[in-house]
Amino acid sequence: VRPVILDVDTGVDDALAILLAVRHPALDVRAITCTGGNAPLAQVVTNTLRVLDAAGAGSIPVAAGAHRPLLEAPQHAAAIHGADGLADLGLPDSARAPEPVHAVELLRRSLAESETPLTIISLAPLTNIALLVRMHPEVLPRIERVVMMGGAVGTGNATAAAEFNVWHDPEAAAIVLGSGLEVLMYGLEPFYRVAVSHDDAAVLAASTDAGARLAGALLTHLIGIDATEERVADDRVAIGDAGAVCAAIDPSPLVTRRAPVEVALAPGATRGQTVVDLRTMVGADISPTRDVPLATVVTDVDPAPYRALFLDALLGAEPA
Ligand code: BDR
Ligand code: CA
Repeated sequence: VRPVILDVDTGVDDALAILLAVRHPALDVRAITCTGGNAPLAQVVTNTLRVLDAAGAGSIPVAAGAHRPLLEAPQHAAAIHGADGLADLGLPDSARAPEPVHAVELLRRSLAESETPLTIISLAPLTNIALLVRMHPEVLPRIERVVMMGGAVGTGNATAAAEFNVWHDPEAAAIVLGSGLEVLMYGLEPFYRVAVSHDDAAVLAASTDAGARLAGALLTHLIGIDATEERVADDRVAIGDAGAVCAAIDPSPLVTRRAPVEVALAPGATRGQTVVDLRTMVGADISPTRDVPLATVVTDVDPAPYRALFLDALLGAEPA
């Protein structure tokens, strides 16, 4: 069983990721840290606690972290995630309060106290993780690796060039990628490919289990967004951040490349772009004057095993 910490900006697909992580027997979720992103920080905390209650996982510690990026003002994504960041489903608020410590302290403590190194699954702007890197370098050896939903090899989503989580706090992403931590970059390419069918979403929505039912309702919301964006022409709906949890559980469906990844920080059209150097010709690895950090980049994925993994965990049986 792999011990993990999730860093989230819950967020519809973060909620799917949390539901999967707490239900899958291969993961032990030690803590969940929150950052402002899809929704303002206080709403992210509220949503995270609501999702844990629905999943019957109400004892996992949750802490509030960065309410804004390192340099810029926050920019939320209500158009995709709803006014409450959680598809406006009217979920009841939790009776539970978050931990009375900052997310960076919960990360530090969880890492320092763990008998084995922890995997951090980052599903949000990387502000909290960057602050941990800067404030507590002594615990970084306790991090097995960072599975980062962020960046893109090709086209972005927040802008033509940049994926939302990196675009929201590009300096934080650059700090994490340059930290020496092992980073698996699960970018937009697998993010949009790993999916379930509309029928799967209906099966989840009709479940008697509250966690599965919530996943079904969230996927139904995403199906509506896809329809307005004409993003998916067939009957699939991407599970987004939950795919990065799949990657942390079982990397075998992934195609990866070890490659230099540089975050574009200059103002303008490319700010927040992850420039992934996939050149293979001689000289591609020569960066004499620029020290570009390496990451393991997901370049392709077989989505079928992850669909099964996701549905198995939530429905408790092999999907039809
Ligand atoms: C990422 O941004 C958010 O909208 C999603 O939750 C995901 O983490 C995709 O760019
Ligand atoms: Ca997210």
